[in-house]
Amino acid sequence: MRNPLVVANWKMNGSQETMNKWIEEFTTFNPLLVEMVLCLPFVFIKDFKTRLLTSALDIAVGAQNCSAEENGAYTGEVSAQMLADIGCQWVILGHSERRMLYGETNDVVAKKAIQAVKAGLKPIVCVGETLEQRQAGQTEEVVISQLNSILDAIGPEELSKGALAYEPIWAIGTGKTATPEEAEAVHKALRLGVESRDSFAASVLRILYGGSVKPSNAAKLFACADIDGGLIGGASLKASDFYGIAQAAVVPDVIS
Ligand code: PGA
Repeated sequence: MRNPLVVANWKMNGSQETMNKWIEEFTTFNPLLVEMVLCLPFVFIKDFKTRLLTSALDIAVGAQNCSAEENGAYTGEVSAQMLADIGCQWVILGHSERRMLYGETNDVVAKKAIQAVKAGLKPIVCVGETLEQRQAGQTEEVVISQLNSILDAIGPEELSKGALAYEPIWAIGTGKTATPEEAEAVHKALRLGVESRDSFAASVLRILYGGSVKPSNAAKLFACADIDGGLIGGASLKASDFYGIAQAAVVPDVIS
């Protein structure tokens, strides 16, 4: 049985003030038995960690990117080790916005994953196809090649300590969500892809769905056998929406 995982991706949004308000609001909700990670812009990570010390919130903190290099003359870059130093535990890698807007190839994402693992960060590796690729029937081929590149770099065991996120590009920030059936089919293919290398890693790996997840559609997605939680963009900026989504991931107690 895999524990669900719900990850917030704030992207380049928010401010010191909105973060404080988000924390205050989230603290008023009843605690949830679900693992949560808040992936913030670099500059807010340390402050969020400090705020956690004096609040009852049980949320881990993550970054949205890290350098593919260990250290050195790379102006403007932030290394995985620097993130680990300030208490960051997770890092999103290979988000489609980074692949498409900043030219991150599978090789670059793989190098980043190696640095993340070396620094002890848990990677949340994103894969996903464009609308054109889906329409051309290439979805599986695209996501499996993105997955294989990561598996070649860090291996299935290290990946399974983090998470894989399936994010169809056409569903990100568009309001269009993959149907639970569409998403499940890809999640299943991804799990089989990991299983072909390491069946234990495949059985424990959390595969998250991302792309216009909202409190109203989360429960149906999370009910699918191979969907183990979500990577939430826009809706995570509102504490009540993120809470509603996280609530949908709570596995009801089975009383026999
Ligand atoms: P969205 O973004 O929830 O706003 O669609 C998801 C993501 O990009 O991780």
